[in-house]
Amino acid sequence: MSASQADLWSGPVGDSWVRNAVAYDRILEPLGRAALDRLDPGPGERVLDVGCGTGSTTLEIGRRVLPGGSVLGVDVSRPMIDFARARLTDAREGQDSDAQNVEFAALDVENDELPGPFDAAFSRLGVMFFDDPTAAFANIARSLRPHGRLAFVCFASPLENPFIAVPTFAALAVLGGPPMPPPGAPGPFSLADPDLLRGILESAGFESVDLSRGPDEVTLGPVGALDEVARQALEQNPAVMSLLDADPDARDAAVTAAADALSAHVVDGDIRLGAGTWIAEARAPGA
Ligand SMILES: C[S@@+](CC[C@H](N)C(=O)[O-])C[C@H]1O[C@@H](n2cnc3c(N)ncnc32)[C@H](O)[C@@H]1O
Repeated sequence: MSASQADLWSGPVGDSWVRNAVAYDRILEPLGRAALDRLDPGPGERVLDVGCGTGSTTLEIGRRVLPGGSVLGVDVSRPMIDFARARLTDAREGQDSDAQNVEFAALDVENDELPGPFDAAFSRLGVMFFDDPTAAFANIARSLRPHGRLAFVCFASPLENPFIAVPTFAALAVLGGPPMPPPGAPGPFSLADPDLLRGILESAGFESVDLSRGPDEVTLGPVGALDEVARQALEQNPAVMSLLDADPDARDAAVTAAADALSAHVVDGDIRLGAGTWIAEARAPGA
């Protein structure tokens, strides 16, 4: 991973994902659940959660592999892993005393050795930011047992994701930011092209690759909190967050523009827009 991606996720972008953790978990929960249901981790299994961020999916996997199983959440972002560990402490001290089987580690999935072997690997939107995706997925494949399972959710194209594109393009008109990264470059849409995605997974050594469409709608939040919803929608996008951070004077105008654009998408009192996702499933090679 390039220094700039690592700096991004340990800098303002990571901080914003921590600040908005509860909202992002609520918005993204159906997307992660769709991939996790396909992976179907069961009792006794050891699972890797790739790019686990603030850790809610890791905690959920920990519950699903009881009794006897365990999960390791790995992420390159220091603030996000710190927050995940704080959540884990809370879980252990609260009702979820079973969270003893959950661990977090600050690791770069692209360059660091992963402490396998794992029966299965999962990710909710944590695999689109690699400089060399083939190398990163090969590293994940190496950490799995022979025929170990992989399932993750990633985004399809920006046009299929108005919940990102609508606020982003409204804000970019104010911030004057660069266009979206080209297909394949690190960013939310780097794995949007199904042929490219399949090719990356097969080049990395994965077999039985299957791509299917995941959830197609996202609820961002109540219309009564439109400005907050707009700010959160902008801050989840690393490129936009960097622009907001670089130009605090333009922040309010960008949020207002995004809120105006989102206000056209109210359903039953909620801001609700289309999403386009891929659920990718594959198996590590045999021994
Ligand atoms: C869009 S966020 C998703 C976070 C989390 N999975 C969720 O759904 O809330 C992408 C995550 O991938 C992580 N990430 C990006 N590149 C990584 C790498 N090379 N190794 C480990 N984590 C990485 C980021 O730090 C960030 O937490």
